[in-house]
Amino acid sequence: MKTLLALSIGAILAGSTLLSPAVSAATPTPYIHTQFNVTESMQQADLLVVLVPEDSGELRLSGWDRASRNHINRAISVAAFTGKAGSQLEIVAPVGLNYGRVLLLGVGNPAELTRAKAEEMGASLSGWVNGTKAETVHVHSQLIANATDNHRISAALAHGVELRNYRFDRYKSQPDARPAQRYSWQVALATDARVQFEQKQALAQGVFTARELTNLPGSDGYPEAFARYAQQVLEPLGVEVTILGPEQVKALGMGSLYSVSQGSHMKAHLLVARWRGNQDEQPIALVGKGNSFDTGGYNLKTQAASILRMHTDKAGGAAVVGAIKALAGQKAPVHVVGVVPLSINMISGDATLPGDVVTAGDGSTIEVGNTDAEGRLILADGIWYAREHLNARAIADIATLTGAKVGALGNAYSAIFTQHSDIEQTMREAGDLVQERVWPLPLEGYDGIVRSRIADRINTGSPGAQAGAIFLQHFAGDTPWVHIDMAGEAFVNSATGIHPEGSTGHGVRLLTEWVKLYQAQ
Ligand code: BES
Ligand code: MN
Ligand code: ZN
Repeated sequence: MKTLLALSIGAILAGSTLLSPAVSAATPTPYIHTQFNVTESMQQADLLVVLVPEDSGELRLSGWDRASRNHINRAISVAAFTGKAGSQLEIVAPVGLNYGRVLLLGVGNPAELTRAKAEEMGASLSGWVNGTKAETVHVHSQLIANATDNHRISAALAHGVELRNYRFDRYKSQPDARPAQRYSWQVALATDARVQFEQKQALAQGVFTARELTNLPGSDGYPEAFARYAQQVLEPLGVEVTILGPEQVKALGMGSLYSVSQGSHMKAHLLVARWRGNQDEQPIALVGKGNSFDTGGYNLKTQAASILRMHTDKAGGAAVVGAIKALAGQKAPVHVVGVVPLSINMISGDATLPGDVVTAGDGSTIEVGNTDAEGRLILADGIWYAREHLNARAIADIATLTGAKVGALGNAYSAIFTQHSDIEQTMREAGDLVQERVWPLPLEGYDGIVRSRIADRINTGSPGAQAGAIFLQHFAGDTPWVHIDMAGEAFVNSATGIHPEGSTGHGVRLLTEWVKLYQAQ
């Protein structure tokens, strides 16, 4: 009796009344176990990684005697290692050195090595290190003489290592051991470099939060659980979090958002998260689709493969939470508000019927031509809320919105739609920087595309990606706005580059860099 009582109180305190008994999503756990340390001095380690610019000539590092030098340089010449960017040469049991292995990692011409390429190299370095037994890794960067390149490249490599080492193992009763190496990054000037490392770590933490939220199965990442999880990770960073429950959503007139979850007992919520990093009155708003599962509703998704991944339909909302977390963690001097309309698209006797008409927050009416086009229904009210209640000076919405986008661009690019060239420019710049690339599709020339016979507009139309964008455009009104369709980019089946298998956290790095670029111009 006693134990039972103690248990149930414990469960209530842990917030698990909101959650399925299997797993408490409300308990944030550390995302990774790898540790980093920035230093100017040589550290003892199991593994020495030397960053080698192209055509460095004979390698000499302080502490290497003649025998060590000979061994390593002979290996270089036998393997014809030139230091080309991304090339690697492993030397096991190097003569005269106290390291089990030395890995030479080519960085090409350091001035030309991009952030994205360095991150990829860090990710593949990490994959390789995880295959060795090394527990401590020392990364020597001092052959990169220019201090700016030295810090930039080291921080980007570390970011790549970190991004690759995230694991989603909360549902495994016996998870595989996580990567848990200790890395020391030996850089030109540790105090200068440390700031860059910290900024990158805050960014990675944002990505991990987004991956975690996106990875949550539909039944555990439902609207209220998503909102509470976001609140728990954001408030400690000084972010102001407001959660509107279903009654408030209805009272504010957001019938379009409300309608998507009306068939479920897991009702609509709206998450609002404000980072006030400067005193600007008008915030930049990021609005993300947080549909915790997409069955399609009465327009049911009938293919097993297409419905299975639909727990990732909250990836846009997760990206917004992650970006707010990153910007707050970086103490970025920006005023930004994340808005996440949260829903679950399910069927019951109360669910929306195809052909029903709902009324959005702005008072306009929408014919639900297809209950599977639910993303735009929740975003319509999210965008309107950002414009009407938050007085946003610009709005970017991001969503896994249409299969048509995947058909057009695959997962190499997100589609962006905007009539503002400054937004388009900065978005493309941000995308190139972090390799979450975007490509513009047109808004002009589709008059009548979402015309409804009986209501103000309908949530379907062809071509599909444009119909989604043009539908949303109405709700942004005159506020400068961009729509990002990231369908197809939320999830990878197997580890690739900086992503372990599963959710990618796509959009966090794009939005974080975009907000800073847009603010700066
Ligand atoms: N969440 C889906 C879009 C999607 C599809 C994301 C594939 C990721 C991979 C969205 O809600 C949806 O179902 N869209 C429909 C809209 C249509 C019914 C107008 C689509 O694109 O087929
Ligand atoms: Mn859908
Ligand atoms: Zn969807």
